[in-house]
Amino acid sequence: MKCDCGGLWKIECQVPKYDPALIDKNTWSLFRYRKFMPLADETWRQVTLGEGMTPIIPYDKHTLFKMDYFMPTLSFKDRGAAVLVSYIKSLGIKSVVQDSSGNAGNSVAAYCNRVGIECEIFVPEGTSDKKIRMIEAHGAKANIVPGSRDHCAEVCWEKVEREGVYYANHVYNPFFYEGTKTYIYETYEQLGRMPEHIFVPLGNGTLFIGVMKGLEELLASGVIERMPQVIIVQSEFCQPFVKAMENGDKDITAAPVAPTMAEGIAIGLPLRSAEILEYIYRHKVRGITIPEDRILAAREKIARRGIYCEHTTAAVYAGYEHYCEKYGQPQEALISMCGAGLKSDHD
Ligand SMILES: Cc1ncc(COP(=O)(O)O)c(C=O)c1O
Repeated sequence: MKCDCGGLWKIECQVPKYDPALIDKNTWSLFRYRKFMPLADETWRQVTLGEGMTPIIPYDKHTLFKMDYFMPTLSFKDRGAAVLVSYIKSLGIKSVVQDSSGNAGNSVAAYCNRVGIECEIFVPEGTSDKKIRMIEAHGAKANIVPGSRDHCAEVCWEKVEREGVYYANHVYNPFFYEGTKTYIYETYEQLGRMPEHIFVPLGNGTLFIGVMKGLEELLASGVIERMPQVIIVQSEFCQPFVKAMENGDKDITAAPVAPTMAEGIAIGLPLRSAEILEYIYRHKVRGITIPEDRILAAREKIARRGIYCEHTTAAVYAGYEHYCEKYGQPQEALISMCGAGLKSDHD
């Protein structure tokens, strides 16, 4: 699960240079990019639920939304889970545990059960009922842990250490990022270019790392000439990376987390913080915080335009608006619509 030095694994492999001829145009899922992934075999064919290939729609003159909640379990986490579970299944693993703020657990539960892998998910108290019911509907056991998201991860990890059960964690396992990087491959295939500004929510960084990995691969292939301006979006009540960037810190020690509606990014101690900060400094990533009191208004505003997203996702849009006020309107911005609205209604 971890290296003896305490660090988390990365996959070091040489993927081929981006070439449209290597995209399998007959596969209608993110596995159309499988030539750019280190997959050992064809197990993905049993696992796939048709994830990925989410549309990019214009929201207004300057803004594109990538509709990443148009996914089998209604969040972008399916990108990573489909690849992670393909890998786990090919190893012959029979049972796994995982901790999550809800969406990743949901996704891992769906894909594991699809291929007969037993699954137990730990979620923090306060996770929306709908997410929990979905986890259970997929056939997984959902354990609700009192306290913070960070504490929930500790409780799950204790079980891993005690019982030696496989930890199918989206943050630990580097195969997850081989899935989330397709966010960028897809964007490039769909638009034939890369938008100048890319706004990404940042909690544990599963989308962020995938985005940076994908961009670096496209850059190394020579299909994009420079990196776009990536902007990470964090809650004003939990902003370890924005604070670290202000101070030029190379790593993060636990940051305070106050309750926020942006539950998906309320991570005080992100496990890959040093790696994320390396990407941030290498590519001059910027950061912005989300004014908490503007999340509901943002959600309402974009719902009026037909897009009913999770609070955490509306929060990214609120962060984008805050960025525009502080630094001016980018000519073109890509914003990720990561989670579907019905999942985060707490009623
Ligand atoms: C809807 C939504 N957006 C964004 C995120 C942030 O992802 P990460 O913690 O991998 O940065 C999550 C994580 O659960 C999420 O559920």
